[in-house]
Amino acid sequence: MLQLLFCLSYFVILSSAVSRENFKTCEQSGFCKRNRAMQPGQSPYIALVDSLQVQANSLNIQLLNKNNNVRLKLEVFGLQDNMFRVKINELSPIKERYEIPVGDSLIEEPKLHNINLSQKDKDKVVFTMDSNKVVMSVEPFRMDIYSNEDPVISINAQGLMKFEHYRKKESWLSTTGSSLFSWFTNPFREAPPAENEEEKPEGEEKKEEENAAETKTEEEPDMWEETFKTFTDSKPHGPSSVGIDVSFPGFEDVYGIPEHADTMALKTTKTTDPYRLFNLDVFEYELYNPMALYGAVPLMYAHNEMRTVGIFWHNAAETWIDISSNTADKSVFSHIADFVKGNNEIPQTDTHWFSESGVIDIFILLGPTPSNVFKQYARLTGTTPLPPLYSIAYHQCRWNYNDQDDVKSVDANFDKYDLPYDVIWLDIEHTDGKKYFTWAHEKFPHPEEMIKNLSVKGRKLVTIVDPHLKREDGYSVYTDARDKGYLVKNKDGNDYDGWCWPGSSSWPDFTNAEVREWWTGKFSLSEYKGSTPDLIVWNDMNEPSVFNGPEITFHKDVKHMNGFENRDLHNIYGLYVHQATMEGLLRRSGGKERSFVLTRAFFAGSQRHSAVWTGDNIGEWSHLKVSIPMVLSLNLAGITFSGADVGGFFKNPEHELITRWYQTGVFYPFLRAHAHLDTKRREPYLLPEEHMNIIREALRLRYSLLPYWYTLFYQAEQDGLPIFRPLWVDYPKNKEVFRMDDQFLLGSSILAKPITDQGTTNTNVYFPGRHDIWYDIETYEVYDGGVTKNVAAPLDKIPVYQKGGSIIPRKLRPRRSSSLMYQDPFTLIVCLDQQGSAKGELYLDDYHTFQYRNGEYLLREFTFNNNNLSSKNIDPTGQFNTREWIEKIIIVGYPKNPLNISIKNFSGENSKRLDHKYNSEEKSLTIRKPGVNIADVWTITIE
Ligand code: GLC
Repeated sequence: MLQLLFCLSYFVILSSAVSRENFKTCEQSGFCKRNRAMQPGQSPYIALVDSLQVQANSLNIQLLNKNNNVRLKLEVFGLQDNMFRVKINELSPIKERYEIPVGDSLIEEPKLHNINLSQKDKDKVVFTMDSNKVVMSVEPFRMDIYSNEDPVISINAQGLMKFEHYRKKESWLSTTGSSLFSWFTNPFREAPPAENEEEKPEGEEKKEEENAAETKTEEEPDMWEETFKTFTDSKPHGPSSVGIDVSFPGFEDVYGIPEHADTMALKTTKTTDPYRLFNLDVFEYELYNPMALYGAVPLMYAHNEMRTVGIFWHNAAETWIDISSNTADKSVFSHIADFVKGNNEIPQTDTHWFSESGVIDIFILLGPTPSNVFKQYARLTGTTPLPPLYSIAYHQCRWNYNDQDDVKSVDANFDKYDLPYDVIWLDIEHTDGKKYFTWAHEKFPHPEEMIKNLSVKGRKLVTIVDPHLKREDGYSVYTDARDKGYLVKNKDGNDYDGWCWPGSSSWPDFTNAEVREWWTGKFSLSEYKGSTPDLIVWNDMNEPSVFNGPEITFHKDVKHMNGFENRDLHNIYGLYVHQATMEGLLRRSGGKERSFVLTRAFFAGSQRHSAVWTGDNIGEWSHLKVSIPMVLSLNLAGITFSGADVGGFFKNPEHELITRWYQTGVFYPFLRAHAHLDTKRREPYLLPEEHMNIIREALRLRYSLLPYWYTLFYQAEQDGLPIFRPLWVDYPKNKEVFRMDDQFLLGSSILAKPITDQGTTNTNVYFPGRHDIWYDIETYEVYDGGVTKNVAAPLDKIPVYQKGGSIIPRKLRPRRSSSLMYQDPFTLIVCLDQQGSAKGELYLDDYHTFQYRNGEYLLREFTFNNNNLSSKNIDPTGQFNTREWIEKIIIVGYPKNPLNISIKNFSGENSKRLDHKYNSEEKSLTIRKPGVNIADVWTITIE
């Protein structure tokens, strides 16, 4: 009964707008309030120059807090690839502070690089790394980092650093007036603790001696216990937050720190809460505000016309980030006054980062170009491994496809109406009582047969596997975890018991590698009954979502392994869930087949294991619009394989909206339609024919571009560049595009501005690049770069353009699924630049195994120059036999009908004449049937 009530109340919550009061504001979070209250210019920290120790690649020095005499240890490391690492921890903590294990967010211990001490005196320590210089001022402590003599990043320049060291709770009799006051005024406080209540662990006496000089730190409210709504956080270890400011002199624009439903260029937070990073289940989220959402990547980039830099805040605890700017925070009047006075203040963005616990661990990425910073971040946390082709095609999901017949009929209707799709999804109702890895047998009596019927068409099935385990004695996944002691514990040491879809649930402690190993086994074909190799997995609710928990998640004092609390590592819990899931799926094939997992919660590094979607959005125009900056921000932060629910999860989008959503969604790297249980069915074939036809065209566009997408994913695995990218990545000197987030690039060669406003039939498109030209991909109409043009965009039109100077391989034969396209021939679309040249790459392999890592792939380059189009292998380590061939070449922007076209093979012999057709209106030249294998080396000459 209780269970039913709970689920009902969650349904009620799920069908109304976001319940803001479920989530803390900064004012309701003790450590946020305490850190935000710091005032600039009052830093109590000094660097103790006498303690300086310098090694080849690093230095360390003690920092002293003059107010309480607590000492910290600062370490600075020079890193390869133009990066520094700055770490600050307590010198002698009474309890180990949490640090994310290497290998979990960072792929490995970052490689060190030489630094050189160039100055050390009582005021300053100066050291260099290549052309970078770090000036450490002693009192107050701050660090200024220069690149080629230009200041680029300053740390603690504002003096907002705060490091709450672990301490013993004072006896209540000796507490200061202020804490006594807070004790009396806090009605939720338990009885005051007895003095010396805990036994001192070994070694602690010594640590206390080292800190002997420590003087009392002023007590502030909420330090030892905190209450939000009806929830009390017991804080057994007291306050532990860490915070510091990071300034970007010369920069007006900062980006990153997903996940927020906000613009791509981050806003100042003077009049709002700071941006919050705390993985939470916030369904029907509000738009354009800094509230936390499902995932967190504490990575920020600053960009201007000269350079791009970044910082990665390697901390998995709840984090808030304040942003201010000397230019953005000015009123229009003071801008005008400045202008009149001739003031030319250098812009600067100041940020202030604070986390509830852990250590200060900042990676400083010195760029200097956008692609440099992406590569630097990729060196730290890794890239998205090349996904199997089906997973970048179209996914059809709904909560829920009710039974086997339903699945069969959806599958058949896609075929009947000639709509391509690759994967059909089953949500929580497919299970027996929300017990994951089981089937509701009355609805899905023959899952293997059901999957096999999909497999014959090259299609896959996704099932949902959430991390909460129903606490039921007959459910072996739960009892196994319980008996092995694998479940997360509450503060008293008992298995944590919270509510989620199945009712009373417990959660495996995925932070423990042994537990993850156990979880991977659950996906083996012998354990996961009814599964086949074509079943892949969706991890949801892994923030984790706990319906009756504070802010709908774990209590902060929940215990993980090694005595760490959820407070220390909350934001990385979800990563561990999908990491173990992916590992389980990979093991099924002995590591031969690539696989696919979708996750809702994520952290820095999630890109190595899983695709991400933006959670429970709404079928409203505003949510369609915000999906673009959201996916851009994810891509900037390394989460390349991401997208939003097409159509919107909640509510019933009108036909125009859902049609426009598909036209946008076909450009999300992860493309899935999904809908809530209470919504009307909206598979494309159920829409009026006009809309279905337009959606079919949009899906066919996605499928025809799969060779380009696949090449981009391959390149992204190598270099970490975003696939779905803002214009400033390719046009870093063009200020006009720095905040543009309603149009985007796919790789470098496609520009799109899908329509995201109701009733719109034309739109202004900005074509970047003063020397570039762009071609409409349908009409080949040409647009000059560097200007904004109003273009027609009736319902059946997506403004999409191919860049002049690029060659994009496409597969134009419509098929039912991507695997049926494996052997299909290519069409090369050659769009000439103003000089009549073009270039492009194509990557291909078997589209589904890891054999590409053993050299079984092809990386081809096509170049068009002086009327010669040629193809060659640009990576001799890759060799792959394929039957794929080239059936057509379309050269766009070609000035006249040529007399003769011929093709020569590698040796220059066997010249063969080719058929062609010239369209003088479009200025397009179509060359028919060159008939060469894609792996051949050839040159086509046009005369
Ligand atoms: C959560 C997910 C949603 C899913 C639902 C039921 O709300 O975000 O996608 O359909 O749970 O599993």
